[in-house]
Amino acid sequence: MFGSLEAAVPDLATWLGQAAPYIDLWADRSPDGQTTVVTPPHRYSYPGNWKLQAENGTDGYHGNYVHESFFQILDEFGESDMKKVRTFREDGCTRGFENGHGLLERPGPTKGNPVDGRRGADAFLRYHDELTEVYGAERRDQILTQRNIFIFPNVYLFDRSIRVIVPKAVNETEVIVSFTWLDGADNELNEDRLAEHQRFFATAGFGIPDDLEIFASVATGVRAAAMEWMLLDRGMSDEQILENGERVGHSTAETPQRAFWYGWRERMSTVPQVNDRGLAQ
Ligand SMILES: [Fe+2]
Repeated sequence: MFGSLEAAVPDLATWLGQAAPYIDLWADRSPDGQTTVVTPPHRYSYPGNWKLQAENGTDGYHGNYVHESFFQILDEFGESDMKKVRTFREDGCTRGFENGHGLLERPGPTKGNPVDGRRGADAFLRYHDELTEVYGAERRDQILTQRNIFIFPNVYLFDRSIRVIVPKAVNETEVIVSFTWLDGADNELNEDRLAEHQRFFATAGFGIPDDLEIFASVATGVRAAAMEWMLLDRGMSDEQILENGERVGHSTAETPQRAFWYGWRERMSTVPQVNDRGLAQ
């Protein structure tokens, strides 16, 4: 559900623009088209600006370093190994869209590599066949591709959840994370998705506390006066600009972060037209 306090806003499809087809793919993860947002959500907060979380969800670079301890655990328990994790995280791409939207894209599970040692391989194979039946092989592969989709300014669609970023103060942010249950898929598949979501993205998962620690450190660091600017130029020189203006970068490039800041600059430097009642029109 989207809302705006400004009266003169574009319609939703225009606003979503290049991001809209990816939202459709996200919704099609449920073979019958129905997805339930599970309540109550996970909530967490951190002592830092909301834009740190906005930049973070499409960042393909930090994982190898910030979440190294999690990958070591996977390695130790034989679920994956560090080399495999690093190779995987080199794959895919980043995309920067108009209006500040963007995404991080990585290869999704396949029949030959279902869920890589996790407990739900059989359930995944059934799900894979259902998706093939409903959508055909080509769209199935597009649907299964792993994506972190960012909708400017504060919503994330992950493969298994929706994340809403709520700014509380310049240095205080709350994040609300809701698991999504695919109504068209069986319970075992959904339970496996839930377990996977919980162990990394939940409040006490392996991933989120790592990120929050870094946000707090960055919030301290940016108070230093010695450096006025932060650079977001990773992968800028070999970024592709498509005909429609969409930018495509390496999976560890800061392409979506730059799209976010282009969107931010556009919004923050536009003076709204105000009518005689002081309302934007
Ligand atoms: Fe992270």
